[in-house]
Amino acid sequence: MNNLLLIFLVITLKSALPSYVYETKYFTVPVDHFSFTKNDTFKMKYLINDSYWDSSNGPIFFYTGNEGVIEMFCNSTGFMWEIAEEFKALVVFAEHRYYGDSLPYGNASFDDKQHIGYLTSQQALADYVDLIEHLRPKSHDKPPTIDYGEYDTQTVDTRSNPVIVFGGSYGGILAAWLRMKYPASAEGAIASSAPIWLIEGLTPCNAFYRVASSVYMATSKECGQTIRSSWKAIDDVTTTDKGKEWLSNQWKLCWPLKNSTDVTKLKSWAKRAYENMAMANYPYPADFLMPLPGNPIKEFCKPLTNSQSDCYTLLSSVFEGLKVYFNYTGSSQCLDVHGTVKPSRKAFSYQICTELMIPLCTNGIKDIFEKSPQNYTEDADYCYKEYGVYPAIGLAEKIYGGKHLIASSNIIFSNGLLDPWSSGGVLHDISNTVQAVIMPDAAHHLDLRASNAEDPQSVTEARKYYKKTIKRWVDGYRKNN
Ligand SMILES: *[C@@H]1O[C@H](CO)[C@@H](O)[C@H](O)[C@H]1NC(C)=O
Ligand SMILES: *[C@@H]1O[C@H](CO)[C@@H](O)[C@H](O)[C@H]1NC(C)=O
Ligand SMILES: *[C@@H]1O[C@H](CO)[C@@H](O)[C@H](O)[C@H]1NC(C)=O
Ligand SMILES: *[C@@H]1O[C@H](CO)[C@@H](O)[C@H](O)[C@H]1NC(C)=O
Ligand SMILES: *[C@@H]1O[C@H](CO)[C@@H](O)[C@H](O)[C@H]1NC(C)=O
Ligand SMILES: *[C@@H]1O[C@H](CO)[C@@H](O)[C@H](O)[C@H]1NC(C)=O
Ligand SMILES: *[C@@H]1O[C@H](CO)[C@@H](O)[C@H](O)[C@H]1NC(C)=O
Repeated sequence: MNNLLLIFLVITLKSALPSYVYETKYFTVPVDHFSFTKNDTFKMKYLINDSYWDSSNGPIFFYTGNEGVIEMFCNSTGFMWEIAEEFKALVVFAEHRYYGDSLPYGNASFDDKQHIGYLTSQQALADYVDLIEHLRPKSHDKPPTIDYGEYDTQTVDTRSNPVIVFGGSYGGILAAWLRMKYPASAEGAIASSAPIWLIEGLTPCNAFYRVASSVYMATSKECGQTIRSSWKAIDDVTTTDKGKEWLSNQWKLCWPLKNSTDVTKLKSWAKRAYENMAMANYPYPADFLMPLPGNPIKEFCKPLTNSQSDCYTLLSSVFEGLKVYFNYTGSSQCLDVHGTVKPSRKAFSYQICTELMIPLCTNGIKDIFEKSPQNYTEDADYCYKEYGVYPAIGLAEKIYGGKHLIASSNIIFSNGLLDPWSSGGVLHDISNTVQAVIMPDAAHHLDLRASNAEDPQSVTEARKYYKKTIKRWVDGYRKNN
């Protein structure tokens, strides 16, 4: 259940990075693109900068927004900004429906099935296609170059501005899917850290946490072992009220542990902390839901040196490490394992409960987490209770082709191998035009971020390759149009 609330990535940078300048605009789209019986509309938000753009034939760089406010993705996708001038490109960041300000029914958007039901990737892609066609200068009708005799009223449709879509994580999935489903609307896609196969039925459920575990194990075996031992240590210590009190004080919990539900919540929080640190394991300080130092896992692991010590010593050392995660700025008064549930969490949880059921399980042997088998019945019950829906297993595979991508073209799938989401990514070339880029020493879509002196070489090389490939797509488009 906890798995169902898992959030993909959402990464922002602190003021150390340039802030980007753009206009914020709104575009009206239908709530339902696929029926003729509903004509509700809403305004989707997008950010746009046309200062570099050569509107006669310059490309449109279009970010397919993911599960959060679009400014966040704009801030963390410096790569698009860095290459826009050279390509004379229009820069656009489109917000995903049901996130940020793009709420089809305002505050009522999450009220019930009738309102939330238009939250699907298909509807979001159709929004993006409408916006692309709205922004792309209208066709110039050219007379045909061949003499068609009596049919010479036919004209040739030309659109001079190629569109390149970009996205990271779920946004990367959408960029790839947009190119697959609407090839007339996007000439190519850069899909970074896009776990298109981390969907029920396509990837074993233990993959995500095995990768996450290997990052801790590789940083220090003792660190990984300590995390693995910590779950039982928490259980053992908290069997008594005295033990609950000890841990509440030792870990400076905002809400003292009262019962086993509280203990379960604490363990869920810790698991989430380890996932998030793995995703945001960047070589320089950054802000991922919370601010973190450079190489946060290395910092976290420093105090975790003896997995064999008694429960109390062990849990004290884990807390020392966790300070890196929840108190890097030194402004946390206490450790709050509850936090607030943002609307974006709810929206994404609904998406997981419908099209995007993510296979997740742990066994505590091949990974460092507490044993937690996948229980589809339990997940489905949760989805029904929470939203009145059941997950549609196999739907995404049917709609988007699953592993059968040979008919697609012009997509780069990039993955950092430090990123647990790479477990569901495309790690090998599918064809000459659907390619995989592997960055062994990168975390979650590091490549889309602004360049940084600390970037590993694999990331710098990847960005060069994207530029070369985008140039080829743009040139190819111009030749054919
Ligand atoms: C686009 O970005 C550049 C660089 O930050 C800035 O100078 C320019 O004003 C921006 N243009 C618009 C229309 O926001
Ligand atoms: C669609 O809008 C028109 C007016 O703009 C209205 O007359 C009609 O009833 C609407 N149809 C539906 C199905 O809501
Ligand atoms: C994006 O960056 C700007 C400038 O650094 C900052 O003011 C803003 O809060 C950031 N937005 C988000 C959603 O992170
Ligand atoms: C939605 O709720 C927010 C916060 O509760 C409020 O500020 C806003 O005015 C509401 N919007 C609408 C359209 O009701
Ligand atoms: C456990 O304790 C919390 C307060 O710490 C309380 O809100 C919750 O209802 C309790 N749960 C059970 C099952 O007793
Ligand atoms: C967070 O760090 C500050 C500064 O080091 C410290 O005073 C505070 O006690 C820490 N908070 C917790 C909950 O450990
Ligand atoms: C899955 O969860 C359901 C409901 O909580 C439970 O009845 C069932 O025994 C579980 N199945 C397995 C294999 O753990």
